[in-house]
Amino acid sequence: MIILITGTPGTGKTTISPLLAEKLGCYLVDINQLVEEKQLYTGVDPEKGYKIVDLDSLEGELHKIVDVTLNESNCIIIEGHLAHYFPVAEWVIVFRTDPNVLKGRLEQRNWGELKIRENLEAEALDICTWEAYQIHTTNVHEVDTSGLTPEEAVNTVSEIISGKKSCPPGEIDFSTYLK
Ligand SMILES: Nc1ncnc2c1ncn2[C@@H]1O[C@H](COP(=O)(O)OP(=O)(O)O)[C@@H](O)[C@H]1O
Ligand SMILES: [Mg+2]
Repeated sequence: MIILITGTPGTGKTTISPLLAEKLGCYLVDINQLVEEKQLYTGVDPEKGYKIVDLDSLEGELHKIVDVTLNESNCIIIEGHLAHYFPVAEWVIVFRTDPNVLKGRLEQRNWGELKIRENLEAEALDICTWEAYQIHTTNVHEVDTSGLTPEEAVNTVSEIISGKKSCPPGEIDFSTYLK
């Protein structure tokens, strides 16, 4: 079973995914770490300062890890804001956070104003969910972590994966943030 955990930066992927991996007994891949370790980037954006990830190389590396891991374990979690680009998955969970809450989290990251604003707008416009839906359709579920503890978020994702709960895209609306 392949579970992709995606979402705008700051929505809690790296905080929640290890807890989820432990609870479900899954092998965990952190895409940010993998990109650094294997140097899967083509350069640095001159204006915004972030690394431009080589998506083809990333997908190739992920396929290799998935092939090896699923021989030994029956579950792998791949987490990162690019996770939904991996084309194969049983479950794609998009973490969402109210932009008013997310703003506070991103302001602690020493990011430039432009980068913070772009990410808050992306969250308000459901960009990650929309991209994930185009690739993974009915396998996509959204979890709003704004009012949850990491443990509560883990429980919600577990319920989705066990079929007890369904959180299809379209129920979360942060668009008023843009008005
Ligand atoms: N309910 C919550 N779930 C996840 N993270 C939370 C929550 N409440 C506060 N946080 C904080 O928000 C930040 C989320 O960061 P992180 O997990 O690195 O996000 P991402 O990997 O999605 O960029 C952390 O500093 C975490 O402590
Ligand atoms: Mg992260």
